[in-house]
Amino acid sequence: MFATAALFVLASLTTSVLGDQWCEAESYKGNQFLQGFHHMSFSDPTHGRVNYVDQNTALQKNLTFASGDHFVIRADHTTVLDPNGPGRDSVRLESNNVYMNHVTIWNIRHMPQGCGTWPAVWEFGQNWPYQGEIDILEGVNDHSSNQATLHTTADCTVGGARNETGISLGTDCDVYTTGNAGCTAQNPTADSYGPAFNANGGGFYAMERSERGVRVWFWPRNSKHIPHDVYHGLNEVDTDNWGTPFAHFPSTNCDMDSHFGPHNIAINLTFCGDWAGIPSIYNADGCPGDCVAYVNQNPAAFVNAYFDVAWLKIYE
Ligand SMILES: *[C@@H]1O[C@H](CO)[C@@H](O)[C@H](O)[C@H]1NC(C)=O
Ligand SMILES: *[C@@H]1O[C@H](CO)[C@@H](O)[C@H](O)[C@H]1NC(C)=O
Ligand SMILES: *[C@@H]1O[C@H](CO)[C@@H](O)[C@H](O)[C@H]1NC(C)=O
Repeated sequence: MFATAALFVLASLTTSVLGDQWCEAESYKGNQFLQGFHHMSFSDPTHGRVNYVDQNTALQKNLTFASGDHFVIRADHTTVLDPNGPGRDSVRLESNNVYMNHVTIWNIRHMPQGCGTWPAVWEFGQNWPYQGEIDILEGVNDHSSNQATLHTTADCTVGGARNETGISLGTDCDVYTTGNAGCTAQNPTADSYGPAFNANGGGFYAMERSERGVRVWFWPRNSKHIPHDVYHGLNEVDTDNWGTPFAHFPSTNCDMDSHFGPHNIAINLTFCGDWAGIPSIYNADGCPGDCVAYVNQNPAAFVNAYFDVAWLKIYE
């Protein structure tokens, strides 16, 4: 969520989309993720009990694995950690390219689960929070269902005209007045996150960022309502045929151009830290003892702490 110094390529500048038809710009499956994304090995800005490794280390330790239509990133699940040493090995990926208005569709089979886990699929501008952040899939400690969130500077609110199936957990997106909480919509169904998501074989997450705001949809794998263009990852998609999103952040009272810049796409898995590790949250989520001690001492608890992504498509 915090800006990091990183080299990036301004691959795609803003295209003003008037309709709701979007054309495929990029497609990632298996090994292609290693071309389009880089591993970020730096310390977690949210103070997690994590050690992000570089690509060579990740491949060598099989924390990153690409084959066919499987792209897997995971945490170490065999090492008992020295309490005075670095945190649990894990992976954080960022896209090489940046995106203005766009649509992403993620076909995800499995996501990290377990006490202490804090996984996220999200997008952000390097000059954080001035260029904004969009969290698509995020949560902690297997708690409840997914939350989609915007983080911005002042004068971005999304009350009033929200047309969404989710539950609003805040309408002011300003990180400074909300203690960094931002504005959130929670998915109404448990299978949008963690163990229930995984038991179902995952599903499809889609996000649209346009002049009209941001919308996020989720269809579980066994849903009868997955749009044809989403299910097949067609070259052209029409977001107006996708039904009501679970999260709707209209631009009515949030000027998109002044709050959102070029975004990198990121996928990461941290432990404990500023959300998952807060004792009142960690214990309320039914997790035992102290988060950091749990992560240090119980490698086997993280055997299911992995993403398995079938594909990602990006439309502009
Ligand atoms: C992981 O992603 C979430 C997305 O919201 C972000 O808040 C958090 O800072 C990220 N953690 C790290 C260590 O990058
Ligand atoms: C590496 O990880 C993949 C995906 O989790 C798994 O299928 C494969 O068997 C692992 N390879 C080794 C050598 O452990
Ligand atoms: C809400 O969004 C859906 C999907 O785009 C649309 O069909 C419906 O008419 C919208 N409802 C309102 C009240 O705007």
